[in-house]
Amino acid sequence: MSRREIAAAVTRALEGVVNPATGQDVVAGGQVAEVAVDEEGRTRFAFSLRKGDPGALVRQARAAAGSVDGVSSVKVDVQLPQTPPGGTKTPAPPGRQSRGAPAGTVPERPPRRGLQPGSVPAPVPQPGILPGVARIVAVSSGKGGVGKSMVATNLAAYAASQGLATGLLDADIYGPNIPTMFGEGRRPAVTGEKGSEMIVPLQAHGVSLMSLGFLLEREQPAIMRGPLIAGILKQFMEQVAWGDLDLMIVDMPPGTGDAQLSLVQTVELDGALMVTTPQKVATGDVRRGVKMFERVNTRILGIVENMCGFRIPGSGEVVDLFGRGGGEELAGELSVPFLGRIPLDLAVRQAGDDGRPTVVSAPGSPAGRSLAGIGDRLLAALGGLPPRR
Ligand SMILES: Nc1ncnc2c1ncn2[C@@H]1O[C@H](COP(=O)(O)OP(=O)(O)OP(=O)(O)O)[C@@H](O)[C@H]1O
Ligand SMILES: [Mg+2]
Repeated sequence: MSRREIAAAVTRALEGVVNPATGQDVVAGGQVAEVAVDEEGRTRFAFSLRKGDPGALVRQARAAAGSVDGVSSVKVDVQLPQTPPGGTKTPAPPGRQSRGAPAGTVPERPPRRGLQPGSVPAPVPQPGILPGVARIVAVSSGKGGVGKSMVATNLAAYAASQGLATGLLDADIYGPNIPTMFGEGRRPAVTGEKGSEMIVPLQAHGVSLMSLGFLLEREQPAIMRGPLIAGILKQFMEQVAWGDLDLMIVDMPPGTGDAQLSLVQTVELDGALMVTTPQKVATGDVRRGVKMFERVNTRILGIVENMCGFRIPGSGEVVDLFGRGGGEELAGELSVPFLGRIPLDLAVRQAGDDGRPTVVSAPGSPAGRSLAGIGDRLLAALGGLPPRR
């Protein structure tokens, strides 16, 4: 079959995908454009996702195209609905008044619709943001308390131990945990000329760290809404002297809200790693988290199952407190890689409280070993991706 015939067959297959929000098929509804097939059968098309469309629609379209004879792979350029002009604005950074707003004030009304899934502008990789950073990976989940910060901390420390220049950005604006997990309470230094100051990340266990926790007074609650979160994340990327990094890990807050969406709009991610605990209630939240990232066209690098199995001290017995296998099952169901499972381990809790990542403090512990294995698989997966820019 010629490329043209394959493209025609792909379009016919896409005509079989009906958008339940409109009752129309996605081709007739004008949601598909630029269907192209190369010599190897690699197929690509643009898909405009509209407000109210189910998150699974792109996946269905991709599957329909992938089932056509002669198609070897499918890449979908998802175009998201645009927010009203004005979008997310960054508060003027301290010392820089060029946008006309006094430092520390919110420059303009937030967009009315806010950053709701479905009303998100397509991620626009902003040239010039983190130019020296080769890879950026978000550690996320749909759910709180599943071990995101623990995994982010350990993967960053592990990558650093493997000789990679590594940064860890704590995007949990509401409850920054990275300072505790790294045992860091210092205030970061500021360098540069007046008007273009940069914050110098702290260094701990070979990792460059930045967290709002380093800047706030102790116990000061961070009361912030979406637009401000976006502003802070952007400032953490633009006004922190990260320098050249092989890898930046971003520790996300729980949920699928403003911070996740702001991040994908600020910077082009290489992908997201999702953490779950094994039980059904957690995997349900994580499934939503995966879909949110897919919806904004962010690759899922894999799922990690945490708090799986507890070895009772003094006996060999292992108890699966939260069940087992939920994360692996979910990875299979969503066709994303399963990167491994981490047992419930006293060494982890201890390490977290002592401010030392487990891969450093207890590399031989069951959790330390599995975290290193997950780190290896993550680094291998990143090695196979095209360069960020
Ligand atoms: N495998 C494990 N074994 C023992 N303790 C663990 C394990 N994983 C995480 N913990 C502990 O559970 C607590 C919650 O972990 P963590 O803060 O990493 O979760 P989180 O998903 O980042 O939470 P949040 O949603 O609040 O950001 C921490 O005290 C951490 O040390
Ligand atoms: Mg956390």
